[in-house]
Amino acid sequence: MTEHIKIENAQDTLTLTFARPDKKNALTNVMYGALADAIVTAETDRAARAIVIRGEGDMFTAGNDVGEFAAVATDAFQGERHVARFVQALARSTRPLVAAVQGRAVGIGTTMLLHCDFVLLAENAQLSTPFVNLALVPEAASTLLMPMRVGYARAYEMFAFGETVDAKTALELGIANRVVPLERLHAEAAAVARRLAKLPAGSLAATKRLMRNPEVLAAQIGAENASFAERLKTEEAREAFTAFAERRPPDFMKFAR
Ligand code: COA
Repeated sequence: MTEHIKIENAQDTLTLTFARPDKKNALTNVMYGALADAIVTAETDRAARAIVIRGEGDMFTAGNDVGEFAAVATDAFQGERHVARFVQALARSTRPLVAAVQGRAVGIGTTMLLHCDFVLLAENAQLSTPFVNLALVPEAASTLLMPMRVGYARAYEMFAFGETVDAKTALELGIANRVVPLERLHAEAAAVARRLAKLPAGSLAATKRLMRNPEVLAAQIGAENASFAERLKTEEAREAFTAFAERRPPDFMKFAR
């Protein structure tokens, strides 16, 4: 458990809150571990008939902690990486997943939305997937789910340029269900979760399984993880992480291909 993930259970809903607002809710290994455990535990928790995922502060999440990316790249980080467990837990969850997004959702902050069944965006939401900017590859089965959702052309632009998609556009592209005023975001998400919690859970789970094939997603995640691990060790990625730490733009042109 970590103080950076809040876990609350009320009114048949499990609410998971990223609570590291001073670092824009950047997700650490420990946070992924707590999230994975909570989502897996919810599978057999009768009081968790729906799950809400949300963030404290002015943004949903700035994505993976870039300092931890750098530590993994240089082998400074040892031990189990929980991000894979988190992604698998999301992909395999039979519970209705509701996301409430304000401000930025960067990287995994956006790709996790593709696993959510109901996505609410505040009017100020901004989604982006700058994996290539960090010399990495997209993850969480997003290389499959994003083109399926928004079409190859748009998905390629989002991935290659890391371009930001605003709430209205995300709604039009089918990434989200609703755009609501910021002040109503969390209340609306709780209301959607309560509504879902009242539905026949077995039927909802079976419907979800028919709509999303967890085995296909797991295979894609495996392929992405292999490529991601390889990319993390490249000189391109080292340049990207160093540039982030030094608050300067990266220079990828110096590397031959
Ligand atoms: N990993 C680690 N720390 C992060 C972070 C991340 N992904 N995102 C933000 N932070 C930290 C900043 O380093 C800063 O820490 P400091 O106060 O100790 O200097 C703090 O959070 C506030 O961030 P800041 O950049 O000042 O906020 P901002 O509102 O100006 O910008 C972002 C917000 C999200 C646009 C910017 O922080 C950013 O681009 N972050 C990196 C996003 C990213 O590439 N994620 C990985 C995607 S695969």
